[in-house]
Amino acid sequence: MVGLGDRHLLGTQGLSSEEITLILDTAESMVEIGQREIKKVPTLRGKTVVNFFYEPSTRTRSSFEIAEKRLSADIVNFSAHGSSVSKGETLLDTARTLEAMEPNFIVIRHGASGAARFLADRCRASIINAGDGMHEHPTQALLDAFTMRRHKKKLAGLNVAIVGDITHSRVARSNAYLLVTMGARVTFCGPPTMIPPHVECLGARVERSMEKAIEGVDVIMMLRIQWERQSRLALPSLREYTRLYGLNRRRLDLAHPDALIMHPGPINRGVEIADDVADDPRSVILEQVANGVAIRMAVLYLLARNWDAHEAA
Ligand code: CP
Repeated sequence: MVGLGDRHLLGTQGLSSEEITLILDTAESMVEIGQREIKKVPTLRGKTVVNFFYEPSTRTRSSFEIAEKRLSADIVNFSAHGSSVSKGETLLDTARTLEAMEPNFIVIRHGASGAARFLADRCRASIINAGDGMHEHPTQALLDAFTMRRHKKKLAGLNVAIVGDITHSRVARSNAYLLVTMGARVTFCGPPTMIPPHVECLGARVERSMEKAIEGVDVIMMLRIQWERQSRLALPSLREYTRLYGLNRRRLDLAHPDALIMHPGPINRGVEIADDVADDPRSVILEQVANGVAIRMAVLYLLARNWDAHEAA
């Protein structure tokens, strides 16, 4: 039986196409649970999940919590603000404290790249990376792929343009690893100051002109500028950014007529995406949010299977 090869989900880098397909297929069954009158199954009964968010989140945090509740887990929510982290406790001491309570899963979002790996190396619990610095946001890429596959019926051969602040985006990185593994063609586009050096090693090509980047593409994924990860704007002005890299109606017309408009959120209307484009019928931004619950249920379910196998060994 195909399973996830690891007890943790730290990134999409290294996930095989079989593992990705298994998660997406499992998420399809989870959608069905979400359509029932009573949206609850006993899969994680008796298991404890700690949701530990050092950075703000609306979508990821709430959809993990809904997913966990639908699977009947016991849940503990921490945020840096309001926990002893704000009194200076280190990540290592926090990890040891959490371990002492013997959770089965720790879902962590942290500003430092590598924080999820740090916990995975020190904790018995399964670690799920809910976004670590500029590194990875694997469940976001999985829900993005799930959304694309539901609309386009495939991932192999899709042309996907990812536009914006690539340098600081964990979403861009996780999407590139996943989509390239699944046989899609990924083009990054953004100001030269927001494209990291050697980005081609992710398997994506770089296009400086937004018009050329989105010509004929099947999917346009817009990214917000990650203000929190840079000390100053690496651009002459925000107006210039919107003029060169904002998705507006004129540019949208260059893409495939059925192109999907995607954004991981939160969106900055009038900056990277025009108001009317965000609300266009081809926009699947809210579907991405809804699909996040099914993907996170699938990941928890598959990792719980690994946990049980690990404990039985
Ligand atoms: N896409 C995403 O991670 O959104 P949140 O920051 O609201 O969780």
